[in-house]
Amino acid sequence: AMITLRQLLDHAAENGYAVPAFNINNMEQGLAVMNAAAATDSPVILQASRGARAYANDAVLAGLIQGLSRAFPDIPLCMHLDHGNGLATCATAIQNGFTSVMMDGSLQADGKTPADYAYNRDITARVVEMAHACGVSVEGELGVLGSLETGMGDQEDGHGAEGRLSEDQLLTDPAEAEQFVKDTGVDALAVAMGTSHGAYKFTRKPDGAILAMHVIEEIHRRLPNTHLVMHGSSSVPEDLQQIINAYGGDIRPTWGVPVEEIQRGIKSGVRKVNIDTDNRLAMTAAIRRKLSEEPAEFDPRGYLKPAMAMMSEVCKARFEAFGTAGHA
Ligand code: G3H
Ligand code: 13P
Ligand code: NA
Ligand code: ZN
Repeated sequence: AMITLRQLLDHAAENGYAVPAFNINNMEQGLAVMNAAAATDSPVILQASRGARAYANDAVLAGLIQGLSRAFPDIPLCMHLDHGNGLATCATAIQNGFTSVMMDGSLQADGKTPADYAYNRDITARVVEMAHACGVSVEGELGVLGSLETGMGDQEDGHGAEGRLSEDQLLTDPAEAEQFVKDTGVDALAVAMGTSHGAYKFTRKPDGAILAMHVIEEIHRRLPNTHLVMHGSSSVPEDLQQIINAYGGDIRPTWGVPVEEIQRGIKSGVRKVNIDTDNRLAMTAAIRRKLSEEPAEFDPRGYLKPAMAMMSEVCKARFEAFGTAGHA
């Protein structure tokens, strides 16, 4: 059944777990998540970016959500808009059956320019008023994602802040977070503490200097009842990098967010953990291997089925590691 983000994360908070939010763009990714949820008895957050909506077509995506929720009637399913950039994107997501929207006002509507506090507060408050009137939840974001190693926003994969950012921008200010939640009434708050989107987050296994989990702990002390969200939380598993590279791929050496660090966050109010890259890597690894081992294969089902299965394994591992399993 469909459920809002607020309902789902309230339950997660009461029971001390977090829910991974997996990005989907197509049927295979949707089924991969739902199959993993069914296998582990987990509630689900599926999220679609503006890019996903453009890729899949809003009407097709709306049908997919309905189909997945009917095919898995026992799995609580939240459909969430990832990185909405204004009132209209959030409103059209709601019209298409999303039960939750993210208004990312940390950047201006161009998705590249860091926004000031007043802009973020005002646009987010307007989205909250509109969405709550429709019975839909809202995630806001305070602080800009980017690398504490380089000071760069995560433009590499085509979205995020452009150019150099100060540590001030890269780390959410706990006092400002308190004010922002009060000013906007968001159901969940995404915070910045050194993660970035995509595969190239860290050039080494991250420590406290480049992955500032203490910021989350401080925000949780001030906002014990606010559901916190970690973006850019793929772990970028080395075994998936290796499979891709063994079958003709080219992934440069890189590190993601260790699962233990996410588990530390879950002890401090993190209830939603955004993961896209790990699933992209899993599908690509499976497809590269399959087509390399069986060059005569040309039925898409022949390589999409193993791709779905490999993505499902990643999802199952996250449901188990975040304590989501058993809570459907
Ligand atoms: O925000 C980042 C997610 O990984 C979605 O990526 O905008 O390429 O669909 P996308
Ligand atoms: P990753 O690129 O680390 O998977 O992050 C995804 C994300 O934050 C989507 O909003
Ligand atoms: Na989101
Ligand atoms: Zn994100």
